Amino acid sequence: MSAVSTAIVSAKGAARWQAGHPWIYRTDVYDEPRDSAGIVSVADRRGRHLGQALYSPKSEIRLRLLTRGREPIDAGWWGGRIAARAARRAGIAATAYRIVHAEGDGLPSLVVDRYGPYVVAQLLSAGIEQARADVVAGIRTALAPAGLLLRNDVAIRRHEGLPLEVVPVFGTVPDAVEVEEDGIRYLAAPRTGQKTGAFLDQRENRALVARHAGPGRALDLFAYHGSFALHLARRATTVTAVDSSGEALARGAENASLNGLANITWREANAFDLARELERRDETFDTVVLDPPAFAKTKQSVPRALAGYKEINLRAMRLLSSGGVLFTCSCSYHVNRAVFAEMLADAARDSGRRLELVALTGAGRDHPELVNVPETGYLKGVLLRAVD
Ligand SMILES: C[S@@+](CC[C@H](N)C(=O)[O-])C[C@H]1O[C@@H](n2cnc3c(N)ncnc32)[C@H](O)[C@@H]1O
Repeated sequence: MSAVSTAIVSAKGAARWQAGHPWIYRTDVYDEPRDSAGIVSVADRRGRHLGQALYSPKSEIRLRLLTRGREPIDAGWWGGRIAARAARRAGIAATAYRIVHAEGDGLPSLVVDRYGPYVVAQLLSAGIEQARADVVAGIRTALAPAGLLLRNDVAIRRHEGLPLEVVPVFGTVPDAVEVEEDGIRYLAAPRTGQKTGAFLDQRENRALVARHAGPGRALDLFAYHGSFALHLARRATTVTAVDSSGEALARGAENASLNGLANITWREANAFDLARELERRDETFDTVVLDPPAFAKTKQSVPRALAGYKEINLRAMRLLSSGGVLFTCSCSYHVNRAVFAEMLADAARDSGRRLELVALTGAGRDHPELVNVPETGYLKGVLLRAVD
């Protein structure tokens, strides 16, 4: 599908593209394109061509830049771009990873994840939904998957006036797909699991934590299907993996069997309650992982979210044995690195522990973060060691 009509944008809108951010908001679009959602040409008020963009008539984010050129944006265009993004992932030591990270990869509102021979994608704007046939054809030629599933059941599609749905496109993507990550095998759940079936963004952090984990007791709070726990179990004597989702934990237990690991205890519990109980019983752990869901879904919820982050981090710090390591993270976009670091410093002071900063991390390299586009950098990780 190539551009059919033109949007005229303000100097401020044009300046955003010039500054490397692909979004132009509703208030900076003077003349809306004639057509409904899709790919449009974009020009300034003097008629100067600025590029082609995905157009979303119902969203505050009206235009998302695809290219500054005038070339046809057809199946071949998508295929070429997706193949180029796949080539950048060469050498990743896993069979499940992200191939297209939307704005972070210059293909706004498109997520493409590989799970072994299958692909799970997300179309997150009305503009790209209109280009679905070409995007699907592009994925097919670039990646030749055995099956393609669209996990379009993401809440942000509501802002675009789009339905939430899971759409099998071709082939059969199974309910569980076995994948491998740094020598650990696990089952991802592309149809029903969180995100597109697994938390691919933490892959490099799991490897990092495994390298620093001590040989003793480990605690994985907010464990999902045990992605950190499995890596820890190769080093630690025992691992306690805690999550509120029984379904995720059941898959975790299967994952442990797949790897012949018998030293993980799976506990369905509220992580806050369990951490409090462990602290009351004076239990200690040599490695603690804290990977909670995004507590701050909106800007307004940041203060409340920070109270939650502080409580769970404070307890985790108190549970650390001397010399123990804590990997803690936040995937709340609204809690930026500075605010997260300040919360951790506050928790460390209250915990009475001395904590050395070992590493600051983000998402893995298959989730590129653009400094001009803060929205691409949501995941913050901090590795600490108790040195008291
Ligand atoms: C970001 S995910 C964890 C991902 C996991 N560490 C991985 O690498 O695959 C957050 C998890 O927290 C769980 N969860 C949410 N609230 C919880 C709570 N209060 N107590 C325990 N688990 C919770 C969710 O079920 C989800 O599996």
